[in-house]
Amino acid sequence: MNEDIIVTTRNLKRTFKFGETEIFALDGVNLSVRKGEFVVILGPSGAGKTTLLNMIGGIDRPSAGEVLVDGNKITDYSLDELNSYRRNDVGWIFQFFNIVASLRAWENVGLALEFQGIKSKTEIKERSFELLKQVGLKGKEDRFPSQLSGGEQQRVAIARALVKKPKIVVADEPTGNLDFVTGQSIAELMRNLNQQEKITFIVVSHDLNITQYSDRVFHLRMGKIEQIEEQPQNSSANMVGE
Ligand SMILES: Nc1ncnc2c1ncn2[C@@H]1O[C@H](COP(=O)(O)OP(=O)(O)OP(=O)(O)O)[C@@H](O)[C@H]1O
Ligand SMILES: [Mg+2]
Repeated sequence: MNEDIIVTTRNLKRTFKFGETEIFALDGVNLSVRKGEFVVILGPSGAGKTTLLNMIGGIDRPSAGEVLVDGNKITDYSLDELNSYRRNDVGWIFQFFNIVASLRAWENVGLALEFQGIKSKTEIKERSFELLKQVGLKGKEDRFPSQLSGGEQQRVAIARALVKKPKIVVADEPTGNLDFVTGQSIAELMRNLNQQEKITFIVVSHDLNITQYSDRVFHLRMGKIEQIEEQPQNSSANMVGE
């Protein structure tokens, strides 16, 4: 095993039966993501991007092939092991933020801390405030999601994803519901966290602009990786060959 690789998929396939027809959502995907890398998976609607992310994040299982994360074959995991992997090792960021409307910004982060087993109210509040500061929300900790802009809500979601100190962060269209400028600022935030905290990011998008913040771009089309593009302006984590 190459020590510098965190995620590998081998001949990954996912088919869905839809009535009489079979849909080949993933049709043999082979990829490797390096530790500390920022990878963007780009492709048109229906290419299989979400399906692929769900396999890597442990939300769904493939029809064939395997996924290795940090040397562990997660495709062999029992349901309990897969749940624990998804809960403890993967940070998720979604297009529609998925934060709880009835909880303040810090309480959304705090809830994730509680799930991690932290019981002290003081510690939960302190750490939530610290994480919100890290994503640029100092002073807005007490606001409810409805009192935050879309970009700010996504920042809360990113802070929440950082709670578990994830091995990987996976993001499905994180800028898909934001205007151009706000999307750029979210992409920048993710890139900064990637570089400062050495967190591996796997970001799915149709948004070409996000690629400028990445180390590599995987082009997915009809369930297959068509092309892998190194981003020449970015040098971090690019020391390893395939
Ligand atoms: N649960 C399902 N049942 C049947 N077909 C599915 C299911 N999930 C996905 N598919 C099909 O698999 C293919 C890939 O879907 P996927 O959601 O991965 O695409 P995507 O690249 O994320 O697209 P988008 O950019 O629109 O989100 C599509 O043809 C889709 O219709
Ligand atoms: Mg999708």
